[in-house]
Amino acid sequence: MDFRRLRLDESRVIEMAEPDDNRINSCIEKWLSESHSAARRQFHEESVLTSADADNAYWFIREQYGKTAAKSAMVRFLRANGFATIRWRVFLAEMRARGQGIIRQVLRYATAFKQLRRVRAVAQNITFEKAFALADAEFGMMQKREEIRWLFELVRAKRPGVVLEIGRDFGGALFLWSRAAAPDAHLLAIDTKPVGRLGKWSSYSLVRRAFAVGSQRITLLMDSDSRSETTRQRIAALLEGRMVDFLFIHGDHSCEGAWQDFKTYSPFVAPGGLIAFHDISQNPAERTKGVAQFWREFTVEHETDERVVSDEPGFGIGVYRMPG
Ligand SMILES: C[S@@+](CC[C@H](N)C(=O)[O-])C[C@H]1O[C@@H](n2cnc3c(N)ncnc32)[C@H](O)[C@@H]1O
Repeated sequence: MDFRRLRLDESRVIEMAEPDDNRINSCIEKWLSESHSAARRQFHEESVLTSADADNAYWFIREQYGKTAAKSAMVRFLRANGFATIRWRVFLAEMRARGQGIIRQVLRYATAFKQLRRVRAVAQNITFEKAFALADAEFGMMQKREEIRWLFELVRAKRPGVVLEIGRDFGGALFLWSRAAAPDAHLLAIDTKPVGRLGKWSSYSLVRRAFAVGSQRITLLMDSDSRSETTRQRIAALLEGRMVDFLFIHGDHSCEGAWQDFKTYSPFVAPGGLIAFHDISQNPAERTKGVAQFWREFTVEHETDERVVSDEPGFGIGVYRMPG
């Protein structure tokens, strides 16, 4: 098999291996070497690689490039290094990789179910401090505590019946909204991240849907670009004529993206409803420059309020209340 035809990019494969696992890196490098004799020479000089290393490297390449590429690479490696019973070794590596895949899946679900139980145990009227601590520990919060506390209290005072979040990621903020919203709220969250093979039954989805307390409902739109007309139409259909009381825009960080999200989804927001933006600080980090620019333009025409509590570049929350 020709690796160049398969577009195996050596640096990507090596990058993917554990950075401190030199044996596996070295093994993958050799597999990808175009020169068998150079690989053999190096192998005998170092005399460090075993077929167990080959097994591990098989797993890494299989994850990234699939079974065919991993098999082909392993055969090359074993041949170049004089191993006997190549077919059996490749077969066993494949069996182990499958076993590891199943074990990883089982462990992932076991962890998810524990997390799900911890999340479910959190009452709706929990204090901000406790909600923030849990969200931070379980999912990682992306906002400054004092900034998001301010927004959380604004949202809780409103007890929104419909919440829409653009850019959900691990769901830290979504968890807070579930504890700030009405007991029968519908929370919808959009992200471009892929749905995965198991869809709403994936461990990711099960945990996030379990944020719902009381008779709340959570709808996760996965693999959905907020800028696409299909996503807009799906949101319109899911809302069934209800208006959004709180819209949190934290997806595409470009200036145009923030404008587009505002223009596309603000018509769904009820009069008096809140629209919040994250990363508006005028002392931006590299990746928040677009939102900072958006906010400069937005505040020229709109009456807003904001919290920016630190000198650290990036962060900052801006809020706009829909007129009416
Ligand atoms: C900073 S994270 C959001 C974090 C989340 N709001 C929180 O505070 O926990 C930004 C997310 O937006 C998503 N995203 C970026 N562009 C998007 C788009 N056009 N449509 C939907 N999601 C988008 C990314 O995949 C990423 O997960």
